[in-house]
Amino acid sequence: MLIKIPQPWYIPDREATPESAYLSRRALLALAGLPALQAAAPNPAFPIDRPLTEEWAVTSYNNYYEFSSNKQKVKDLVGGFKLRPWTVELTGLCNKPQTLSIDDLSQKFPAEERTYRHRCVEAWSMAVPWTGFPLADLLKSADPKPTAKFVSFISVNRPSQMPGINTSGGFPWPYHEALRIDEAMNPLAFAVTGLYGKTLPIQNGAPLRLALPWKYGFKGGKAIVKIEFLAAQPTTSWNMSGPNEYGFYANVNPKAPHPRWSQAVEQIIPTMGRRPTLMYNGYEKWVAAMYKGNEI
Ligand code: MTE
Repeated sequence: MLIKIPQPWYIPDREATPESAYLSRRALLALAGLPALQAAAPNPAFPIDRPLTEEWAVTSYNNYYEFSSNKQKVKDLVGGFKLRPWTVELTGLCNKPQTLSIDDLSQKFPAEERTYRHRCVEAWSMAVPWTGFPLADLLKSADPKPTAKFVSFISVNRPSQMPGINTSGGFPWPYHEALRIDEAMNPLAFAVTGLYGKTLPIQNGAPLRLALPWKYGFKGGKAIVKIEFLAAQPTTSWNMSGPNEYGFYANVNPKAPHPRWSQAVEQIIPTMGRRPTLMYNGYEKWVAAMYKGNEI
């Protein structure tokens, strides 16, 4: 069951979606016997600045190197990927290490929908209605120790089902990215299990991925199988692969260019319309206090 918990950063469906698409989605939900999500009250402090990216675009333009470096091909290569059985291990510096099945997760943590801006380090962007639950709820269930200062998120490594792993020699598999613990506990950090009110498609990171809307998309690992609490800052795949190009923090920042391109402007998928990049991708109000200004 989907339970809507309105939050100030929520982009209401009825404001973010073209009305025809919104009404037809509601009609579909009604046909399927599913309750339509209640739209949250508009929040003048956090204006809506773009329509939702259409579902076909979100599910057919993907970065998922375990399958392919060709964004349009990923969706055609996921057919052999097995989603069950699937477990997520919580380990490291915590009092309640545990291994949860993906079905335990959906039972334990009620789902809500959050429409977030989604900004890739490559400068393209989307607005995506994710379904999931606060990452903090999952992390707190393991009762992290006070010595846990970082959290690492490790993706599945299955070369037999993920053809891109075999052809991208040198990349530090398994895909792993990490956060400082306060970032991971920030209310914006979201554990994603669905998209557009449906189960998350494999190409978007099923059965579990992260959405961290103030950071470049690569920080949000897909197909997560292990979460580890650590005392020291761990290695991360993209930083290992290109230390001068991909920082540990990777917060969206229009003034910090990538060495090979500017980050001042983003291109909206699928039209490639251009608009100025916002500091922390527009989420400054909720995350800026975590940073002193030198985290890149
Ligand atoms: N997670 C894994 N395991 N493998 C990847 O290649 N790509 C990252 C991130 N998570 C990636 C990943 C990048 S670069 C981005 S921009 C987003 O996933 C893309 O998510 P999307 O395809 O749902 O838009």
